[in-house]
Amino acid sequence: MSTKSNTMWGGRFASGPDAIMEAINASIGYDRRLAAEDIAGSRAHAAMLAAQGIITDSDAQAIREGLLTILSEIEEGSFVFSTALEDIHMNVEARLTELIGAPAGRLHTARSRNDQVAVDFRLWVRGAADAAQDAIRGLQRAILAQAEAGAAMVMPGFTHLQVAQPVTFGHHLMAWVEMLARDAGRFADARARMNESPLGAAALAGTSFPIDREATAQALGFARPMANSLDAVSDRDFALEFLSAATICAVHLSRMAEELVIWSTAQFGFVKLSDRWSTGSSIMPQKRNPDAAELIRAKIGRITGAQVALTTVMKGLPLAYSKDMQEDKEQVFEAADQLALALAAMTGMVADLTPQPDAMRASAARGFSTATDLADWLVRALNLPFREAHHVTGHLVALAEAKGCDLPELSLADMQSVHGAITGEVFSVLGVENSVASRMSQGGTAPARVREQIARWKALLA
Ligand code: ARG
Repeated sequence: MSTKSNTMWGGRFASGPDAIMEAINASIGYDRRLAAEDIAGSRAHAAMLAAQGIITDSDAQAIREGLLTILSEIEEGSFVFSTALEDIHMNVEARLTELIGAPAGRLHTARSRNDQVAVDFRLWVRGAADAAQDAIRGLQRAILAQAEAGAAMVMPGFTHLQVAQPVTFGHHLMAWVEMLARDAGRFADARARMNESPLGAAALAGTSFPIDREATAQALGFARPMANSLDAVSDRDFALEFLSAATICAVHLSRMAEELVIWSTAQFGFVKLSDRWSTGSSIMPQKRNPDAAELIRAKIGRITGAQVALTTVMKGLPLAYSKDMQEDKEQVFEAADQLALALAAMTGMVADLTPQPDAMRASAARGFSTATDLADWLVRALNLPFREAHHVTGHLVALAEAKGCDLPELSLADMQSVHGAITGEVFSVLGVENSVASRMSQGGTAPARVREQIARWKALLA
């Protein structure tokens, strides 16, 4: 039990908090990550107070310099954080008082910890949204390089994880690039919406001091001040949007990771993961495990957990600030850290993997993957209605299955036993290379089309 009341707000308290009260109340264990943002917000606030004649220029200067000293103390690790001082805001202000004395007490004029934490956290989440976009672009570049090399490598395309139609490796990878582009877009959208300044909302109602909210908004890189002081201190929807974007991105990463797990099995053998991105087994010497891919696949658990946790914290809270909202930070920090790690690991793994075109091609040729090409040919060459062509092709597949061969290995006589009008020209559409080359529709898997996608993305990511 601390016996001294809090120096920041303890005026009306005779004694300090119970030790457990201190433990449940303190956020300094994690909100110290907001130190740089807290100091930036305070420096902007102090400059504005002086510009408005609310505090003197010399006090503002002492405050602004003292805050820079504190920032370097924190960066070099010499700053002593105190749980009794609850959070980053009061830790910084208490140290400022030690450093510059009385003027420190003027920093909190026309401000509350409620708008202070709102501005700090917005700045932090804004930075995390920018970092996520950068990391996504890095991953897209790594995928693009593999797609370029694999633009014409034939592999099976799947539906229901059953061989469906041949596609190219480059085409498959460019699907990942598109998924990631939307993820980056979600972070960009969230960033644009969150980029308004809550500073100057004070505790909840605004302030009687003649502050200039445009000036602090501009100094901190916000597009404008938030329009309503109650809203400014009481919402964390910007954090929820960040977590939603992170969750969807993690969903995408988990799907990519799962494909790498499948592709790197002995049964598929489509890609070889490098030694740097696999591990061995302590008992089975032959093993080469895709641990990084598995862990990326798992990260969605923590990230969506954070999203659910903060959504639940915010549900039903009356306006304006409630202490519940202190529980916002750990969720966002956790999700941002895990997403950054997953993106970095995926980038490294993709850059390092070696595609195995022979295995991909052999697999694409199995499983009657050109049956649709055969049906399309029957429509084009024999003018059959597609439904009938589908039916005829079904018979041909059954015949090949009975003979234990693939479609191109049926003889013309076999084909004609199912439909008399079939000619030898049919064999020109049955090879997997012919199949992919024919899919020239926009966004299709023909190597020429895939190279167009790659060229477009190379320009966008340059
Ligand atoms: N540590 C607090 C938080 O993160 C700062 C705001 C405290 N405001 C208050 N009125 N107690 O939410």
